[in-house]
Amino acid sequence: MDNPAPTRRHTNGIAVVGVVALVVAMSAAMAAAMRGQQGRSRSADDAVTDNAVSVAGTPAAVVARGAALYAAHCASCHGANLEGQPDWKRPLPDGSLPAPPHDVSGHTWHHGDGELLRIIAKGGTIYMPESKMPGYERVLSDDDMRAVLTFIKSSWGPEQLDWQAQVTAGEVGPQAAP
Ligand code: HEC
Repeated sequence: MDNPAPTRRHTNGIAVVGVVALVVAMSAAMAAAMRGQQGRSRSADDAVTDNAVSVAGTPAAVVARGAALYAAHCASCHGANLEGQPDWKRPLPDGSLPAPPHDVSGHTWHHGDGELLRIIAKGGTIYMPESKMPGYERVLSDDDMRAVLTFIKSSWGPEQLDWQAQVTAGEVGPQAAP
């Protein structure tokens, strides 16, 4: 008689990889859709753009403040060099995810400022009940959270910055940066 356990484990592994791949594909598709929407219907003087967290022209002191706040509050999970936790795409046994990188190897840059600031403020449980990403709205001021995001963005290249700026410009209503 065959023991079905290894087969089940194997199948679960494939399912998990499939789910992760699906999530990655969906965020890419959503970002692409938002980009398209932005091209059609949004104008440069839209208020969302005013609220976006920009890197170009940001005083070095703001980036340095963001770096210090990052080191104090985020580096323990996301890594001293924004590198994330090992094997970060593979869910942990408790169903939560390891902390992803924030540099170009992660997918932080696939999300608009509004969504990123909301995750930082409210924590990951707004998307996933088992999330270990804490919410910082009672710990950091809005300015602090923006400074941390600016520091994170300072690690991205022009391509990621351009893509992410377009996703941000496509965020509307409750999605937009607060
Ligand atoms: C206790 C560990 C931990 C700490 C500390 C932590 N995070 Fe996270 N963070 C996570 C995990 C785990 C995720 C993965 C998504 C989830 O589980 O919600 C995450 C996800 C994120 C995301 C979403 C990234 C994406 O690509 O979707 C952002 C943005 C983020 N964290 C920013 C921060 C910032 C900024 C700080 C510091 C102010 C911080 N995190 C501190 C664990 C942590």
